[in-house]
Amino acid sequence: MRNVPKKKIIYGAVVVIFLIVLLHPDMNGRRSYEYIPKEAILDNLYYAVTKSFKLNNSTNECDYRDIVFDDTTLSPSLKDGDLDDGHKIRAGGECAPLECRPKFSTAIVVPYRNRPEQLHDFLIYMHTFLRRQQIHYRIYVIEQLDSLPFNRAKLMNIGAKLAMKAGFPCLVLHDVDLLPLRPANLYACTYNPRHLSSSINKFRYVLPYLHLFGGAIAIRADQFRTVNGMSNQYYGWGGEDDDFYSRLENKEIKICRFEPATSVYYMLNHKPEVKGEQRHALLDRAEKRMPLDGLNNLKYTEIAATLHPLFTHIMINI
Ligand code: BGC
Repeated sequence: MRNVPKKKIIYGAVVVIFLIVLLHPDMNGRRSYEYIPKEAILDNLYYAVTKSFKLNNSTNECDYRDIVFDDTTLSPSLKDGDLDDGHKIRAGGECAPLECRPKFSTAIVVPYRNRPEQLHDFLIYMHTFLRRQQIHYRIYVIEQLDSLPFNRAKLMNIGAKLAMKAGFPCLVLHDVDLLPLRPANLYACTYNPRHLSSSINKFRYVLPYLHLFGGAIAIRADQFRTVNGMSNQYYGWGGEDDDFYSRLENKEIKICRFEPATSVYYMLNHKPEVKGEQRHALLDRAEKRMPLDGLNNLKYTEIAATLHPLFTHIMINI
């Protein structure tokens, strides 16, 4: 073997150790955010169901203790066959447990454009995941048809508005490329808005910054109204979730999270979106715009609305 100088070996070892420390998720603040401990989750949930939906006549209420303590991790590659008929999903992607009376009604709002395979995988996965949680839910997919840059937040407002009109007390605002891997990550609202996706594979399971409030979040309908929903002005990628966070901050509404191990998500692969050019300028004036820009000035054209077997499909031009 060639004679390698001692200095070089020591230098190499230091670099390797440094990289291990730097790249290891546990060394990157994975546990550095506050979260609701498992034992306290049931006391922090917001128990509310829609009045209009006919729930079953079961006398026993669903019990959520087991799901909160469930330590299963699902595989992100569920296929069509995994969605069995027993799920009894109603047209429009609405479902409720048959075996007990649910204590939560959640609308899952998904902004969407041009990713049919991803949408297919998302729907199969989510119905399997949600069915296991014994909640009442409905999936709304809001599709932007025009050729303007994608406006995620405006699509969220549109879906939220429809879901609130249908009486949903809890909204989950969800990207189509994210799959929650832990059934313990209950898709119900907590009293405070909750960041669900704090531990994503793409970010090596590290929360990039403490006030990140994008990806998948759960918020009570009344709180969503209090902040006038999200801004309608963010075209292209980025900033709209930070804007939403500053709205909550402005109204002194604190966010919360579950522990990192429960908040694990798998991000499906896709090409990066075009970044929004105006996002920094918009963010600078986020709080000032809140009273005028959001649910109260929401305008769009609905092109079609259909009840697909797995989701409510709203097609719009923004
Ligand atoms: C963007 C957010 C995004 C976050 C994580 C931020 O720079 O403004 O919109 O969610 O990065 O990707």
